[in-house]
Amino acid sequence: MSTVECAPIRPSTDLSSLPQPRPRVAPTKLVKLCYTMVHAAEAVGIRDLADGEYLPTDTTLEAGIDRQLNYLLDQVGCTRPGFRLLEIGCGYGHLLQLAIARGAVAVGINISSEQVRYCNEHGAHVYCCNYRDLLTATEWYGQFDGVIANGSLEHWVQPEDVQAGKMDAIYCESFDIVHRLLAPAVPDARYVTTAIHVKREVKPEYLLTPWGRHPRGSDRRHFSLLHNWMGGYYPVDRQLEKCASPFFALKAEVDGTAGYKQANDYRMARMMSGLYTNPKLVWRIVRSLARHPRITGTMIESYFIEKSWDWQFRGDDPPMKLLRQTWQIAT
Ligand SMILES: C[S@@+](CC[C@H](N)C(=O)[O-])C[C@H]1O[C@@H](n2cnc3c(N)ncnc32)[C@H](O)[C@@H]1O
Repeated sequence: MSTVECAPIRPSTDLSSLPQPRPRVAPTKLVKLCYTMVHAAEAVGIRDLADGEYLPTDTTLEAGIDRQLNYLLDQVGCTRPGFRLLEIGCGYGHLLQLAIARGAVAVGINISSEQVRYCNEHGAHVYCCNYRDLLTATEWYGQFDGVIANGSLEHWVQPEDVQAGKMDAIYCESFDIVHRLLAPAVPDARYVTTAIHVKREVKPEYLLTPWGRHPRGSDRRHFSLLHNWMGGYYPVDRQLEKCASPFFALKAEVDGTAGYKQANDYRMARMMSGLYTNPKLVWRIVRSLARHPRITGTMIESYFIEKSWDWQFRGDDPPMKLLRQTWQIAT
């Protein structure tokens, strides 16, 4: 556990007046750059970047996304007016908007300046910072009835951290941070996460070796292709539970792998059609190529050509699984 001093807690109903957290840990450059590139997809209306939950009658990306986001809000307990919610890594703010429609007071944090600008121009209140900065943001302690991290945790650990033996410590710190942010007077305050977990053998060296040196179609090549435009490393089954244990106990767990695959299929279809019909999408990709040729080239190779993103959830026994987990403060 960390030894940061606690300030006296005065819960606020105006979360937009919380002070901007002071920088403590610089965001990973690759992750920031990834969301500058991913902003191209906003041109075709792709503003939901995590998994969905689909029924056979659904016909759009958003139908499954709405169902999944409402599930997360129910799980965190955001079912009453005035509920104070934080989303870590809030993307374009869809979940925050749904929470506000439920009468909640909701704010987000995000390292992507493009997404923060979009959120703040569309009625949400989002702070541009690394979640790790919140460890020392004492004014934020105890301000929330619930916290959600929907698809952001996959970026928190880098292969270099794994090599340095810091992976568990980083997850453990993240649970410590959320524990500090939750209001002590709310006995059943919850934290809800969704995160891709890896099921196959992986070593940090696979991700750090240039993808061109791995055989085409191999797991190692896909791992490297993914990391070199997205920046991140996935937990394995039960790892988060172990890291959470001083602060939180696992209360519920749902496997959302099939819903992630379906959301990806919708996004891929929209991107492919946009390449032929949407000049704004093409312009944003070309601009990104001009500004960041190596990483954008890797993204094109990975997403469109070798389909590494798709590979993660393909087949009867896909290499990854998506877990939605609800955490309750450990007693
Ligand atoms: C896959 S997207 C998911 C976005 C959104 N939750 C959604 O469902 O569409 C991951 C998000 O996490 C943010 N993120 C990644 N690392 C972060 C960090 N260290 N601190 C804060 N936000 C982070 C990214 O900028 C992005 O908005």
